[in-house]
Amino acid sequence: MDIQRIPLSLYVHWPWCVRKCPYCDFNSHALPDAHESMAERYIDALIADVDTSIELTHGRALQSIFIGGGTPSLMSPVQLDRFFDHVAKHYRLADDIEITMEANPGTIEHGRFADYRACGINRLSMGIQSFNDSLLKRLGRIHDQHQALLAIETVQKHFDNFNLDVMYALPGQSVEMLSNDLQLAIDAQSTHLSFYQLTIEPNTVFAKYEPDDLPDEDTVAIMQETVVDTLAGAGFEHYEISGYAKPGRRCRHNLNYWQFGDYLGAGAGAHSKITLTDGSILRQARYSQPNSFMQHALNDSAVVEKRTVQTDELPFEFMLNALRLTDGVGLETFAERTGLALETIMPTIEKAQKQGLMPTPLTAIVATEMGQNFLSDLQEYFL
Ligand SMILES: C[S@@+](CC[C@H](N)C(=O)[O-])C[C@H]1O[C@@H](n2cnc3c(N)ncnc32)[C@H](O)[C@@H]1O
Ligand code: SF4
Repeated sequence: MDIQRIPLSLYVHWPWCVRKCPYCDFNSHALPDAHESMAERYIDALIADVDTSIELTHGRALQSIFIGGGTPSLMSPVQLDRFFDHVAKHYRLADDIEITMEANPGTIEHGRFADYRACGINRLSMGIQSFNDSLLKRLGRIHDQHQALLAIETVQKHFDNFNLDVMYALPGQSVEMLSNDLQLAIDAQSTHLSFYQLTIEPNTVFAKYEPDDLPDEDTVAIMQETVVDTLAGAGFEHYEISGYAKPGRRCRHNLNYWQFGDYLGAGAGAHSKITLTDGSILRQARYSQPNSFMQHALNDSAVVEKRTVQTDELPFEFMLNALRLTDGVGLETFAERTGLALETIMPTIEKAQKQGLMPTPLTAIVATEMGQNFLSDLQEYFL
């Protein structure tokens, strides 16, 4: 197994938002009052955290960095620059590295975006959710349609590569309202759109007080079809469950997760998955509460949990990712990324083929359309 062939990414987590949205179960917290000094301390902790991971890279270059959250656009360009400067000095970066940052349209200050671009960010991902003012209110968003459109204009000026996150199946949403959101999202001329079906996640305000006007199952099915058909008509390739990209603009960072590549995590709650020189795969999780993360990271001990993935867990872990991709992954990728021969899972693949869940002949590790419809059942075959 040649670990130099496995692409390597870095995920950096920023755990604060202006306020917490009622549907969101990400590791994100409302920003406390004394946030300036806290942000500086957090950058110190991130730097200490990435330093502890360098030895795991064995000289491999980072092919992507993703600054996610939370709302990382609350970080000032100066803070971000301090962090990137450190990463660039201590890590090898691929010449064509993709560096994405997530942003919330309610936090966009005009001047900042040129500075973000100047510090090396070359892809922006903005959380729009909807363009409809009444839906945005229901979602507890800090921005309205007008601010969203202004933010898009600003982003367009500085980034030729950007994504918008939009959600559907929202409380009180009709198919017509969704069609309107689709049109405005297409008009924004982004290179990538993520269209997520709203899910009610445990421990969120929406789980406690579930909205009583969520669209029913049949309407959601029509919505899903409307998203797929409309975006295909607008030249977007549907390449992952919720991912749509203009040709050549698939998100490299997320593709690396789905293709079972390696990634290092930095920041509160961030995870790493990294192949070691002996071919074993190490998983790490960091303290998720921002304060405990900072405290531990500053003592070089941000990792709260680590374990080596057992050989018999690898096929399921691989399929959990790879089968999400509409094109799947090449047959050789399985051995390259897991160290196991494809033959070890052939009996299971043959069973899936007999059920029509994977294609015959097997041109790639991919689900058929029926396989996509029963994706979790298919993935469980590999448990
Ligand atoms: C970490 S947020 C990134 C953007 C930024 N924090 C914002 O909201 O503007 C990632 C995306 O996940 C999606 N998301 C969050 N909670 C969701 C849920 N319960 N169901 C579906 N999508 C969700 C939203 O579209 C959100 O933009
Ligand atoms: S959706 Fe985005 S802005 Fe809202 S709480 Fe989650 S991470 Fe923060």
